[in-house]
Amino acid sequence: MVTKVIAHRGASKYAPENTMSAFELAVEMGADGIETDVQLTKDHIPVLIHDENVKRTTNGTGLISQLTFKQVKQLDAGAWFHPSFSGATILSLDEFLQWFANKSLYLNIELKNNKIEYKNIEAIVYEMLGHHKLLNRSTISTFNPNSIKRMKSYRKNLEVAFLTSKRYRNLVQLTKELGGNALHIKYRLLNRPLVEHIHQENMAVRVYTINKTSRMLNCYQHECDGIFTDIPDKAKHVRKLVFN
Ligand code: G3P
Ligand code: MG
Repeated sequence: MVTKVIAHRGASKYAPENTMSAFELAVEMGADGIETDVQLTKDHIPVLIHDENVKRTTNGTGLISQLTFKQVKQLDAGAWFHPSFSGATILSLDEFLQWFANKSLYLNIELKNNKIEYKNIEAIVYEMLGHHKLLNRSTISTFNPNSIKRMKSYRKNLEVAFLTSKRYRNLVQLTKELGGNALHIKYRLLNRPLVEHIHQENMAVRVYTINKTSRMLNCYQHECDGIFTDIPDKAKHVRKLVFN
């Protein structure tokens, strides 16, 4: 199996994470897929941002959950990374999906609902993916086990992944019990028996966040379904060494 190279927050080594520049660059670099993080504004609009607070990646401060979409749109989401990116804005999920829909790439929407349990975020994101006809090539993932349970009814036509960095005694069984049908794991959890066990259960396994050559090689050799990387051009180059 050829492991997918999934641009983590876009090509986030080269451009401000989760912005259009980072996503466009990921496509230019030939990434097989894109991963992005979703939170809800005060007026319940899904937007693409990793942290609960806008402080690290914009020129503003405060929680996304306390800002309206209009307020969020006024923030500069590029200048913190490099002045050449100033003027970049936080994207709504809808804006992003409109752009993404005609690209033939895999999509992973990570719900950032493990610190703040945004009400209805599962339904809002699911409906939007359906609206853009993206359910059959997307995975929704979350670190929040209760959120996986809430998505149980969606997994018939959507892949739902449990995201984890924790060592559980029986991670695969737990994921099934929660209602998930894929696993997104931190690199330190990776080992061949686990990958084989996940595959035996017809689940996909993807690994984050893989930027070092040795780790890329390990994931490729273990035939993981995907890696999340900030450096998709490098990951593609390294992959050629294994799969060509
Ligand atoms: O979805 C994989 C990875 O993005 C999870 O961790 O903190 O980078 O969103 P984080
Ligand atoms: Mg993420």
